[in-house]
Amino acid sequence: MRRVAPHLLLPTRTATGLESLAEYRARGGYDGLIAARGQDPARLRAEVAASGLRGRGGAAFPTARKWDLAAAASADRKFVVANGGEHEPGSDKDRLLVQRHPHAVLEGLSLAGLATGATHGYVYLIEDMLPQRSSIEAALSEAADAGLLPFPIEVGTGPTTYVAGEETAALEALEGRPAKPRKKPPFPGEAGLFGKPTTVNNVETLAHVAWIARHGAAAFADIGTEQSKGTLLFTLGREVARPGVHELPFGSTFRDLIEGCGGGLVGGRRLRAILPAMSTGLLDARHLDVPIAYETLRPLGSSPGCGGVRLVLDDTDVVAMVLGIAEFFMQEQCGQCPPCRMETNQFVHILKAVQAHKGPGYDDKLKKLAEFSRKKGNCSLIEMAAAPVLSALDVFAAEFAAAAGPGALPGATH
Ligand SMILES: Cc1cc2nc3c(=O)[nH]c(=O)nc-3n(C[C@H](O)[C@H](O)[C@H](O)COP(=O)(O)O)c2cc1C
Ligand code: SF4
Repeated sequence: MRRVAPHLLLPTRTATGLESLAEYRARGGYDGLIAARGQDPARLRAEVAASGLRGRGGAAFPTARKWDLAAAASADRKFVVANGGEHEPGSDKDRLLVQRHPHAVLEGLSLAGLATGATHGYVYLIEDMLPQRSSIEAALSEAADAGLLPFPIEVGTGPTTYVAGEETAALEALEGRPAKPRKKPPFPGEAGLFGKPTTVNNVETLAHVAWIARHGAAAFADIGTEQSKGTLLFTLGREVARPGVHELPFGSTFRDLIEGCGGGLVGGRRLRAILPAMSTGLLDARHLDVPIAYETLRPLGSSPGCGGVRLVLDDTDVVAMVLGIAEFFMQEQCGQCPPCRMETNQFVHILKAVQAHKGPGYDDKLKKLAEFSRKKGNCSLIEMAAAPVLSALDVFAAEFAAAAGPGALPGATH
């Protein structure tokens, strides 16, 4: 018997597409914020710590631990930022949340601000998010008119690039500079926007915070697995009958997602591999029934990432697919760290050679490049670019060897 999946973030599809303040209030929206106002912020941080919530922006950092850093810093001004700068191909969940459920994002942002002592908040979007901008602005004025916001919140934007979603690049953009990641430390919790302690959380993380404030840490921690709590939003593409954003608890399998939520593959095609998000490692189709959780995917060289799932089917040209991903990272890296420029450019060069049947030694070259560049950038795009490429060498070893041409067996150097 299939379990009924709890829907914490996507309870209804509203008629207008935008959940109004009245609709959100009718399902208990802002009750958590109203209760938290006037309470000791440490209590709210302890509640979120007990829930086990981890960030949904991709890195899965424990939310309460991030909050503790900003809360411990003393400053005349502190900031909190809702990061909605989603630009990963195949991921639409942040756009959907901001557009359809803007009050859940605003309530979570307000709670994060109360928990860390923020004096000012921002909802950060990228420039192409016009429908999202109008939804959040309408929600902001509704919430402000109703006296619900504990501090001023405004909308800020960055350019439509992938790297503009990185948290310190977002802060640069909010300060009016080019959206390029800063060297860390200091971390934003110590010195962020305008040099002041700043908490940056993904918009999905914040919508979960609102749910936790309303229903309690225990109810949230009851959902999911040992180390991965709550639900996660996934985006499915046109390979399935019902593409779009779906919500499932951690511990669900890719089969639950693809068959249960997505209605199965279209066109009678066969699944070969799963890429849980573009910046993670590929999983062989044998892992269809592995429970999705941080602790189960990490030993397999992957992670849930931001949940923008790509399915590799029996008719997919895998070398072309991996080259396409490498080209994306090459184009989107911001150019300020030489190892990142070198790695992403060389990946494309080597993969193009494989595609042209001139790829001897490709396997060693790709691995050495990734090893040399690891941790040498201002942000983790270097590691994100390497994950799908290196995992493809294992999952599609035969295809790569065949494409690279005679004598180009994996590991062979010339
Ligand atoms: C290249 C790059 C792009 C990123 N893009 C996003 C993004 O679009 N949205 C997001 O929330 N986090 C993005 N992140 C992660 C953020 O830097 C940061 O970890 C996140 O916003 C923190 O929120 P969380 O703790 O709630 O996950 C990106 C990171 C990197 C390295
Ligand atoms: S690692 Fe790459 S994307 Fe990140 S700051 Fe350096 S050059 Fe830019």
